[in-house]
Amino acid sequence: MTQSTPRPRVFVSRRIPDEGLRPILEACDATVWPDELPPPRDELLRAVAGCDGILTLLTDRVDAELLDRAGPQLKVISNYAVGFDNIDVPEATRRGIPVGNTPGVLTETTADFAFALVMAAARRIAEGDRYVRADRWQTWGPLLLLGVDVHGATLGIVGFGRIGQALARRARGFDMTVLYHDVAPLPAEVTEPLGATWVELDELFERSDFISLHVNLTPETRHLVNAERLRRMKSTGIIVNTSRGPVVDQAALYLALRDGVIGGAALDVTDPEPMRASDPLLSLENCLVVPHIASASRATRAKMAEMAAANLLAGLRGERLPTCVNPEAYGPDGR
Ligand code: GLV
Ligand code: GLV
Repeated sequence: MTQSTPRPRVFVSRRIPDEGLRPILEACDATVWPDELPPPRDELLRAVAGCDGILTLLTDRVDAELLDRAGPQLKVISNYAVGFDNIDVPEATRRGIPVGNTPGVLTETTADFAFALVMAAARRIAEGDRYVRADRWQTWGPLLLLGVDVHGATLGIVGFGRIGQALARRARGFDMTVLYHDVAPLPAEVTEPLGATWVELDELFERSDFISLHVNLTPETRHLVNAERLRRMKSTGIIVNTSRGPVVDQAALYLALRDGVIGGAALDVTDPEPMRASDPLLSLENCLVVPHIASASRATRAKMAEMAAANLLAGLRGERLPTCVNPEAYGPDGR
C-alpha cells in the first residue's frame, strides 16, 4: 500500500460544468451537492465541516457561522459568480481566508443579455409572444403592440465597471446617447471611445430612455432605484436590472409600472429570488422577468467553472488565487 498525503477535502455546493468539476475531482476528496436546488442551510453547515476549501454559489450564504462550522483549516472560498454579496468578505478577510470570484469571462455575455432586455422591453417581445400563444392575433394592426425605439435613444448606465462599459459599446452601434454614473467619473481615455458622459444619478434618471443597472449590491446601492428616483424618470422610461434584485425597491417599482409613472421594466434579478408566479409584478404586461440567466451561455458558464476551479485549487495549494476579491486576506498590504 502506498502512503500519500491525504487529498484536500472540499465541498462543491452544486454541479458546475465539467470544465471546472473535472480538475476538482481529480485533485480533491470532493463532495458535490447533487441536487438542482441549493443545499438547505443545515445541510450546507454540515457539509462544510472539516473542509479545506469550498466552492459556493450566490445562493449560499457564507458568514461567520458557516466559517466557524467549516473550521480553522479552511483555506479558500471560491464563489462561482462575479458577484459576492452572498459572502461576508470582511469576516473571511479577518480569518485570513481568500475569496475568489469569476470576473471578466462573463462580461460580454452579460452585456449581450442586458442589451437583449433593453430591446425586448422596448419592442414588447415577450408580450407579443404571449399574445400569439393566447391566439389573440387577428390581423396586422397599425397600432398593435407599439413600443419605443432603441436606436437614437438615451441609455443611462448605473455602475460603469466592465459590464457597464461593455453595454456602452453595444449602444454605440445603435447610435444611442450614453450617460453613466459611477462613484466618480472614469478617465477620459476609458469613456471617450465609448462616447459616455458622466452625470449625477438624478440627472441620469431624468434624461434616460433606458436605465441599466450594473452596480454591486452594497448597503449604498440597496434600493438605489426607489419611488423618488422612479418619479424622476420619463413616463416612457424603461428600467433594466441584471445586477442584484435588492438594488431596486420592488414594491415601488410595482406601483410605478402599474400607475404609468414609467413605461416598463425588464428584470433578470429579483428580490427575493426565485420570484413566485403570484408576484404582483407578473400581473403587469409591462414587466418582463427572467430567472437570473444573464451569464448563462454554455461557453461562459464553462469558463466560469474553470476559473472557480483554478481559484479553489490555488487556494488549497497555498498559492494566490488568480482572481481574489480580498487580497487584504494575505496581509495588511495584500502580500
Ligand atoms: C451572477 O449574477 C454573478 O454574479 O456571476
Ligand atoms: C463585472 O465584471 C463588472 O462590471 O465589474
